[in-house]
Amino acid sequence: MKNFQYYNPVRVVFGKGTIRELKKLLRDKSKILFLYGGGSIKKNGVYDQVVEALKGKDFIEYSGIQANPDYEDCMNCVLLAEKENVDFILSVGGGSVLDAAKFIAAAIYYEGGEPWEILIGKGRIKKALPLGSVLTLPATGSEMNANSVISRREIGEKRAFSSPHVYPEFSILDPETTYSLSKRQVANGIVDAWVHVLEQYMTTSLDSPLQDRQAEAVLLTLLEEGPKAVLSNKDYEVQANIMWCSTNALNGLIGCGVDQDWATHGIGHELTALYGIDHARTLAVVLPGLLSLMRKQKEQKLLQYAERIWGISMGDTNVRIDEAIARTCLFFESLGVDTRYSDLGIDEDAPEKIAARIDGRNEVFGEGQNIRGPEIIKILKNLKD
Ligand code: NZQ
Ligand code: ZN
Repeated sequence: MKNFQYYNPVRVVFGKGTIRELKKLLRDKSKILFLYGGGSIKKNGVYDQVVEALKGKDFIEYSGIQANPDYEDCMNCVLLAEKENVDFILSVGGGSVLDAAKFIAAAIYYEGGEPWEILIGKGRIKKALPLGSVLTLPATGSEMNANSVISRREIGEKRAFSSPHVYPEFSILDPETTYSLSKRQVANGIVDAWVHVLEQYMTTSLDSPLQDRQAEAVLLTLLEEGPKAVLSNKDYEVQANIMWCSTNALNGLIGCGVDQDWATHGIGHELTALYGIDHARTLAVVLPGLLSLMRKQKEQKLLQYAERIWGISMGDTNVRIDEAIARTCLFFESLGVDTRYSDLGIDEDAPEKIAARIDGRNEVFGEGQNIRGPEIIKILKNLKD
């Protein structure tokens, strides 16, 4: 196992009716920026619950944060928060609203030049405004991690940053808030959480049996509960399990002391930046090609995954690996998420375009730091070597 530090200060408040806990959680805040998205919270009653809990508090609202939150919107919020002397940001919605809150919190105190520098690895974050969240979409794990992903449509970029200063102080996870999700969003969330696990599990690390089994526990639970959630997302226990799975998929615990990959996400972000495809749907088309191309490097883990998740233990190594990849695709497709690049219906030269963009930034992905432009083209075209 590699050396590691694990720090996670997020207070998770989980369960039915927990939005009312906001009253206590926000007791010492004097001016709150209440941030939300395009209006789902007004239709499903979450907005009313939040406003009720905020009664007597001084707060302002900013709505309209888009899916794949946009830099310009965030910068408008920074101006508003400064003008209004806000001392806390409350995000209510999915990962996009929360990621926007994290970026705004960091940008307010950013002392360098343009806050975009934070997202291109040029800026150091020394301080951020405190923030908290009411999560309504289980998927990203943002509620219990220090990451944020921001898009800048004006220049066609989607970039991420991470800082311990932007951990939420608390995250309220009430599974009942997820009852209003569309089937598409439920399925996206399951696929996103699945791929978060694989980015940390499907590498070359072989000496981490506890982290492996924690990762496999998340996968097996998603495998059991996922199809039920897509069929109907009104069962409290199913939604509670899915919600806790997606938090655990990316709160840092299963990634302790192990190699991590993140190539699927790196390539997927380019597909969203260029073609506006849902985050999870990019992952579902990148992952199969990645696992297939990197099969030698990941062989032991792929075989372990084949056996422990899919019960495949017989046959030649390549046959077992192919079968595990095929079963993964079938699972995603059973949820309604396409897994073939051709299903995206985008430009034929997109793989070359994406490879050139990533190479142009000198970015290298993968636990072996060996995924560059040429490999990216093969991954997107699903070529074995
Ligand atoms: O905007 P509203 O009206 O709220 O609608 C949203 C949005 O249209 C809707 N929604 C959310 N909760 C709902 C609901 N609709 C009905 N009922 C509810 N309870 O769902 C749509 C998608 O929401 P969004 O927040 O964009 O989805 P998600 O949580 O999947 O977040 C995606 C963003 O997170 C980033 C992605 O790249 C993408 O930008 N990620 C963030 C990560 C992190 N911070 O750690 C890791 C991930 O890998 C990911 O990259
Ligand atoms: Zn993701």
